[in-house]
Amino acid sequence: MNLVSVLLLLTCVCSFALPQLDLQEDALYALKLSLNASPNQLTNWNKNQVTPCTWSNVECDLNNNVIRVSLAFMGLTGSMTPRIGALKSLETLSLQGNSISGDIPKEVGNLTSLTRLDLENNRLTGEIPSSLGNLKKLQFLTLSQNNLNGTIPESLASLPSLINILLDSNDLNGPIPEKLFSVPKYNFTGNNLSCGVDYHHVCTSDNADQGSSHKTKIGLIVGIVIGLVVILFLGGLLFFWYKGYKRDVYVDVAGEFDRRIAFGQIKRFAWKELQIATDNFSERNILGQGGFGKVYKGILTDGTKVAVKRLTDYESPAGDAAFQREVEMISVAVHKNLLRLIGFCTTPTERLLVYPFMQNLSVAYRLRELKPGEPVLDWPTRKRVALGTARGLEYLHEQCNPKIIHRDVKAANILLDGDFEAVVGDFGLAKLVDIRNTNVTTQVRGTMGHIAPEYLSTGKSSERTDVFGYGIMLLELVTGQRAIDFSRLEEEDDVLLLDHVKKLQREKKLDTIVDGNLNKNYNLEDVEMIIQIALLCTQTSPEDRPVMSEVVRMLEGEGLAERWEEWQHTEVTTRQDFERLQRRLNWGDDSVYNQDAIELSGGR
Ligand SMILES: *[C@@H]1O[C@H](CO)[C@@H](O)[C@H](O)[C@H]1NC(C)=O
Ligand SMILES: *[C@@H]1O[C@H](CO)[C@@H](O)[C@H](O)[C@H]1NC(C)=O
Ligand SMILES: *[C@@H]1O[C@H](CO)[C@@H](O)[C@H](O)[C@H]1NC(C)=O
Ligand SMILES: *[C@@H]1O[C@H](CO)[C@@H](O)[C@H](O)[C@H]1NC(C)=O
Repeated sequence: MNLVSVLLLLTCVCSFALPQLDLQEDALYALKLSLNASPNQLTNWNKNQVTPCTWSNVECDLNNNVIRVSLAFMGLTGSMTPRIGALKSLETLSLQGNSISGDIPKEVGNLTSLTRLDLENNRLTGEIPSSLGNLKKLQFLTLSQNNLNGTIPESLASLPSLINILLDSNDLNGPIPEKLFSVPKYNFTGNNLSCGVDYHHVCTSDNADQGSSHKTKIGLIVGIVIGLVVILFLGGLLFFWYKGYKRDVYVDVAGEFDRRIAFGQIKRFAWKELQIATDNFSERNILGQGGFGKVYKGILTDGTKVAVKRLTDYESPAGDAAFQREVEMISVAVHKNLLRLIGFCTTPTERLLVYPFMQNLSVAYRLRELKPGEPVLDWPTRKRVALGTARGLEYLHEQCNPKIIHRDVKAANILLDGDFEAVVGDFGLAKLVDIRNTNVTTQVRGTMGHIAPEYLSTGKSSERTDVFGYGIMLLELVTGQRAIDFSRLEEEDDVLLLDHVKKLQREKKLDTIVDGNLNKNYNLEDVEMIIQIALLCTQTSPEDRPVMSEVVRMLEGEGLAERWEEWQHTEVTTRQDFERLQRRLNWGDDSVYNQDAIELSGGR
């Protein structure tokens, strides 16, 4: 064989191995262009990489096939390119909450691995392509809140895996394929479709049928959702294990190191820069301190106000790469109600994270530490905080893969931006400081009075431990009080806010719970709703607690009544057990009796 044929053979082998990747990369790049991503969005989506698997908002399986593209809530305009049809392995496509216009390309029907298609809340026009009927694995189809017109294609009726079809608030008309009414969850309202009073079916599944069959349906959905979350989580672990492995292989490739730093559009700061910004970490600039270290106010040289978190108590020295990997993971969680990471800094002895400065500080501050003359949080703002926080946590639990568990949800960690929009801070940090064990945390982290009983007793956290913390946060919002308050002892009340509220709720004295600072400017029905949700979220058994997406829906006025009824039945029988358990777990040691809520394993 001469040299030429060897070369030819090699080219053949290579082009045989790569075409799949090139197609994927081309398709994603075309998507970036067609969606009009702005110059500071998706900056690491460039075409000179071996695979698109390192791009932000993109995930691959072990064979470098793109399985997930998530570009939700990014303010994208533009349209969807037909070339997206090349992503044969894509399982999840999330483009919701943008301003995407144009048609849904019929090539979406070529994405035969798709299980979840979410295009909600855009400006899509034209008809629903009948090619979507080819998506035999599709389970979740969400096209709500667009301007889609025409009829619902008959082909959708033959989708065998569908469990959720939401087409509400479009301009659809005509008949609804009969079989779609047997999908466990559907919503066709807000169209000119043949359902409603004059027809045989109601337009949404939620009030379609009542009683036990409905409950089994909900059970089924919850079961499936939990199953999916578990699968996603395991998949995520595998994925990250593999990525870690791959990195080791790539270390010597020139430029690899820089790429990692550019990942997720975060900046690596020099120690000196942050030292100057915070006036050498002056005590005067301390904004607060919590379980993970002190937070300093700072001003960068370009005038940007930032909050600099100086982590204490982190494991490593070997953890630098692992630290960066976690930072990258946190930085891709981008949502209106989550505190965005701007950058980080590492030195041999220090780890720092840089966030935007939140003008209105935290909910805890606004509830309890106001300076004279500062206005109290009014009731509508408190409701908005409840919903915003729930949406932020929903995103962490249900839209991030692998999901992110916060582990320390409380009013002090819910920040408020200039418009008093709730912004969840400190997420992902629990893992960041326990990098050595990526799946099991060695220490219970959190704050007494906010910690779910099962986390305290077993050390195992899950998204349901966050739901518990969220429930306590709701009680803080309504009452303005601390989760643990020893001064309540003097009035022979319960030290734990949760017990205190439950008692008043039993005695039907809800109005006495409400924060006096509100001067009676609130709506008692709202208060009842929020207290009910809080009590559902703080049930002893984690499985009984709702997931965050259910909480969001309940806050929006859906599905609370039924769950509340169940709660009242079970609560009577479990109350005694619950109280005994709480006391055993939270007390037993008089030395914890001090002024404030107690940080566990904190880095004070
Ligand atoms: C999509 O599938 C159709 C056949 O249904 C095929 O003709 C077309 O080439 C495919 N498009 C892409 C982009 O793969
Ligand atoms: C749907 O809307 C498009 C414009 O967005 C229009 O061209 C088309 O005729 C409409 N189709 C139907 C069936 O109304
Ligand atoms: C159905 O959609 C309408 C309009 O978007 C919305 O108001 C309603 O809450 C939805 N119902 C269900 C059960 O999802
Ligand atoms: C709604 O659909 C019916 C027929 O299904 C049609 O007669 C009516 O004009 C439509 N209304 C609107 C507002 O498009």
